[in-house]
Amino acid sequence: MPGSMTANWRWNFLITGSKMKTVRSIKQMQKLARQYAGQKMTIGLVPTMGFLHDGHLSLIRRARKLTDVVITSVFVNPTQFGPGEDFKAYPRDEKKDIRNIASAGGDIVFIPKAEDMYTDDFQTYVAVEEITKGLEGSSRPTHFRGVTTIVSKLFNIVRPDVAVFGMKDYQQAQVIRRMIRDLNYPIKLMLAPTVREKDGVAMSSRNSYFTPAQRPDAVCVYAALKTARTMITRDGVDDPAVLRREMKKVIGSICPSAQIDYIAYTDFDLLTPVKRITKNCICSLAVRVHGIRLIDNMKMR
Ligand code: PAJ
Repeated sequence: MPGSMTANWRWNFLITGSKMKTVRSIKQMQKLARQYAGQKMTIGLVPTMGFLHDGHLSLIRRARKLTDVVITSVFVNPTQFGPGEDFKAYPRDEKKDIRNIASAGGDIVFIPKAEDMYTDDFQTYVAVEEITKGLEGSSRPTHFRGVTTIVSKLFNIVRPDVAVFGMKDYQQAQVIRRMIRDLNYPIKLMLAPTVREKDGVAMSSRNSYFTPAQRPDAVCVYAALKTARTMITRDGVDDPAVLRREMKKVIGSICPSAQIDYIAYTDFDLLTPVKRITKNCICSLAVRVHGIRLIDNMKMR
């Protein structure tokens, strides 16, 4: 895919007249995307809900290497939050996000208004059926319908050649991969590795909910994954039930009040449960640590 940094800057400057543009109107975003495509420039999209950390920024840097124009969307999508979830409390800091996106090499930040994305008479949803049922889907039954609907809308508005998603939300990436295939979007999905804090905790906007006293306990999730991987690779354990039991012990020893939502061993591509650990296997888990729901995963072999 073409896209040297110098060419990016030159073309971008010619078209936008500035280093980074903030676009709030859907129509304007569509117009710009059409212009870029008309100039035979490739477009990379990084969808986010904002409050960006280094994990998000790594996706922007990845897109920067792959495409001529990098568009980052910032939109806290109401339809992917269930009743009683943290939509209202979800952290927001638009000014800081814009600065961070610019410093990671973004060309455009797309910040649509909620009332434009979901008009009062909105009634069309996109739903991927099977692989949305397990894992996150079993705890959050309406979540993926919201995700696929908003990502589908973003795809239609931005018309990217490449979309970059994080391994942190592995099921989400696989659901989008399926949507791209089933709905014939001419888009290549790139999966970027999970960026972690020094202690191994996966970066997440929701980590900001922890008080400084609570935060060290968040490491229980990563510690459990690491224990399981060692048991598999060093000791040859291949029974998910045994691994799950050990992981529960690790979590309980670090944070006795933690509530485990699920610990699942599934096929890497299909996300179906596995009876034995084989080569193509991933462990995903969701745990409430001091009431904050953390998800993480690790390829086990
Ligand atoms: P959000 O949680 O903001 O995440 C945006 C993207 O950043 C996702 O692809 C996610 O997997 C990735 N990401 C999050 N934490 C990461 C980390 N520690 N390392 C690497 N990548 C990380 O996921 C969403 O928003 C929404 O569901 C969205 C796709 C934007 C639709 O609303």
